[in-house]
Amino acid sequence: MQVVDNTVALRTRIKTWRANNELIAFVPTMGNLHEGHLSLVQKAKALADRIVVSIYVNPLQFNDKNDLEKYPRTLTEDINLLSEQECDLVFTPDDSVVYPQGMSEQTSVHVPGMDDKLCGLGRPGHFDGVATVVTKLFNMVQADIAVFGEKDYQQLLLIKKLVADLNIPIDVVGAPTRREDSGLAMSSRNNLLSDTQRLTAPLLYQQLMTIRTALENGETDLDALTQAAQTQLRESGFEPEYLDIRRADDLRPAQPGDRTALRILVAARLGSVRLIDNILCDLA
Ligand code: PAJ
Repeated sequence: MQVVDNTVALRTRIKTWRANNELIAFVPTMGNLHEGHLSLVQKAKALADRIVVSIYVNPLQFNDKNDLEKYPRTLTEDINLLSEQECDLVFTPDDSVVYPQGMSEQTSVHVPGMDDKLCGLGRPGHFDGVATVVTKLFNMVQADIAVFGEKDYQQLLLIKKLVADLNIPIDVVGAPTRREDSGLAMSSRNNLLSDTQRLTAPLLYQQLMTIRTALENGETDLDALTQAAQTQLRESGFEPEYLDIRRADDLRPAQPGDRTALRILVAARLGSVRLIDNILCDLA
C-alpha cells in the first residue's frame, strides 16, 4: 500500500492502473477510521481492481470552528488499519494541496435542494463544503466508482445529484450503515462521548426503530410519531435538531399513506456531540 500526499504522485499511480485497464474505486473519508469506513473499503474491493482511500479533514464543510478543531485526527492508526485491508493507495493531502489558493477564493459547488432541509438547516454552508471538496477529490483521483455510506444519507443523495448534474464520469454506490452491538451507528464522533453518554446514545437508533415498527403496523399519524420520539429523546438528555420521516428518493416530507420507500432521519446533540442516524422504511 502506497501513501501519497500530493496530486502528482497520485496521478502517476492512477495512470499506470488506467493503462492496464484496471477498474478503480475511491472511498473519500476524513479519517479516524472505524469499521464503518472499512466496510466501504470492502465494498469497493468487491467492485473494482484498485482501491484508493482519501483522508482529509475538510475545513470548508465545518460551519463550527470548534467542531473542526476537536475533530479526531489519527493518521498513523488510520494508515495501519488500511494496510490490513486490500487498499492500494491512501491519499493524505493537506490544506495547501486541496486549497492552494486558500479557501476564500475557492470556486464553490452548490447542489440545490439540500440547504433547506434536515442537516442543511442546522449546518449552513456544510453541503457546499462537501460538494466542493468531493468534486475536487473526484477530479484528483479520477476513479470509476466511489463508495459512500448510507449513514450520511443526505450526503449520499447530494453526491448522486452532483455527479448526475455535472456529468462527472463516476458511479456512486451506497453502502449500509455499520452499527455497534447496541445499535449505535459507528461514527468518529462516538469517540467524543463520555462513558455515560455512550450508554444513552443507542436510544437514537431505538427511536428510529420504534417509528418504523409503528408505520409497519399501520400508524398514519406521522407528526404524533416524530413528536413522541423527540420527547423520549429530550427526556433522556438529547437535544434533537430534527427527527423526520421523508421520502427516500428526494427527502421531501412523507405524506400519511405514502407507499414509496421512506427514510426516517434524526440529528441530535448529546452534550456537545452531534449525532446523526437514519433507517429505511419500505411499506410498499
Ligand atoms: P467521514 O465522516 O469520514 O465518512 C466517510 C464515509 O464513511 C462516508 O461515506 C460516510 O457515510 C461513511 N460512514 C461513516 N460512518 C459509517 C458507518 N457507520 N457505516 C457505513 N459507512 C459509514 O463523510 C465524510 O467523511 C466527508 O463528508 C467526506 C465525504 C469525506 C467529504 O469530506
